[in-house]
Amino acid sequence: MSYEELVKLALEAREAAYAPYSNWLVGAALLTKDGKVYKGCNIENAGFTATNCAERTAFFKAISEGEYHFEAISVVGGDRETGVIGYCSPCGVCRQVMAEFCDPDNFKVIIGKNENEYKVFTLRELLPEAGFVAAADGYGFGNK
Ligand code: THU
Repeated sequence: MSYEELVKLALEAREAAYAPYSNWLVGAALLTKDGKVYKGCNIENAGFTATNCAERTAFFKAISEGEYHFEAISVVGGDRETGVIGYCSPCGVCRQVMAEFCDPDNFKVIIGKNENEYKVFTLRELLPEAGFVAAADGYGFGNK
């Protein structure tokens, strides 16, 4: 699947965002190595810390279905009122979740505005020196 297609799917996922507090709507599309896509959106809560980001929603859906081999994730985010989608970079907690399950040098994070405008990073670029993470010790990647 192309990065363009994956960004489009993140835009679709964004339509389900539940963000009445921030009005910042985010969508993500997580691509597995065998070509399946898990979509996620942010899900906010009146007790703010219970909020789940779009990226983690997608990961937790996938992991809970037994998927452990991931290729890439695309993320799009923007304000409800203006409708403008800006580059929405994953938060630190989401990066840490990615590090649990993804190979830092091969897993790609695609931060998009639309199918023509996006930036591609490796996970290692976004979370360097994450040396202690489980994936580095052979966990993650389907090993429990
Ligand atoms: N958010 C995401 O879902 N993903 C990101 O990459 C950044 C932030 C959400 C959390 C919260 O619901 C809203 O965006 C504003 O921070």
